[in-house]
Amino acid sequence: MSQDYFKTAQELLDNIEQFHTDKRAELEQFRISYLGSKGKVKGLFAGFKSVANERKREFGQLANAVKAAAEQKLNSLKSLIEEQEDQTIEIPDLSLPASFNELGSRHPNSIVLNEIIDIFSRIGFVVAEGPEMEDDWHNFTALNTPENHPARDMQDTFYLDKKVNPAMLLRTHTSSAQSRVMKNQKPPIRIIVPGRVFRNETISARAHCQFHQVEGLYIDENVSFADLKQTLLYFAQEMYGANTKIRLRPSFFPFTEPSAEMDVSCFICNGKGCNICKYTNWVEILGCGMVDPQVLENCGIDSTKYSGFAFGMGIERIGMLRYSIDDIRLLFENDVRFLKQFDSAF
Ligand code: PHE
Repeated sequence: MSQDYFKTAQELLDNIEQFHTDKRAELEQFRISYLGSKGKVKGLFAGFKSVANERKREFGQLANAVKAAAEQKLNSLKSLIEEQEDQTIEIPDLSLPASFNELGSRHPNSIVLNEIIDIFSRIGFVVAEGPEMEDDWHNFTALNTPENHPARDMQDTFYLDKKVNPAMLLRTHTSSAQSRVMKNQKPPIRIIVPGRVFRNETISARAHCQFHQVEGLYIDENVSFADLKQTLLYFAQEMYGANTKIRLRPSFFPFTEPSAEMDVSCFICNGKGCNICKYTNWVEILGCGMVDPQVLENCGIDSTKYSGFAFGMGIERIGMLRYSIDDIRLLFENDVRFLKQFDSAF
């Protein structure tokens, strides 16, 4: 009888030795069946009393070895499984809905600007740039704006440093890029300059201390006022439709002579009369003129050989008219709910 217990113990040892699993559930089965309260190891110890006295010591050692082997097996397989689980990449549930990516949209200023650039590039104008931080000479002096001109007043201009000569400021118009390009390039010059400009204005629905302009400049031999008019007519009809008419009203800018402001026939009501054109059927969109010969000379261009025209328009104004936006501040708040209304891609 006692002999059987020795045999059983040996079998258990062999079985434990051979046991292997990488599954938690199977390992738990193993633990219950060997080390549980009704398990095989317990059963083995229960046979202790049936073993002959002289072999009790030997049997005790054997039974303890079985228990230790089961425990050791349990622990080593447990750590093996844990190690494996650490390395297993959790595969996400591919049937879950994708996370939503909020897309932005193009700003009305960008939409309008891209159109303007497109229209002028078709007739050979290239985009140029100038700095937003500018000096007094490029922004004013070169452009015939004398020392005591009201445009230099502290109320209009943000000066950065008045102690240096020439003083530094935030450009008040993109015309400052005219003087830079004329100083650095030889005619023929055919550029448009988009950019941000700054004026010390009280912020309201109609005015802001920053806005955007597009400048145009064309310098070559024999450029006439007729060229200016034709170029602007082409622009207006590309921008607002083939039936658009333009009207040039005499005006004044220190750097152009003669100077004009351009109106386009109202693209909102087409002559029926509306709030935008204030029942006049005309909407002002830009300032322009022939570059004053003195400005050419200031920038090192021979005014007896070359002539040219320039124009400048406000981008916000054009977008506000087109989209019936009644508050310029909306264009600087970057509220997607507002911006999304204008981009046809959305
Ligand atoms: N710089 C002028 C303005 O800001 C616009 C302009 C540009 C006028 C070029 C004539 C020629 O109002």
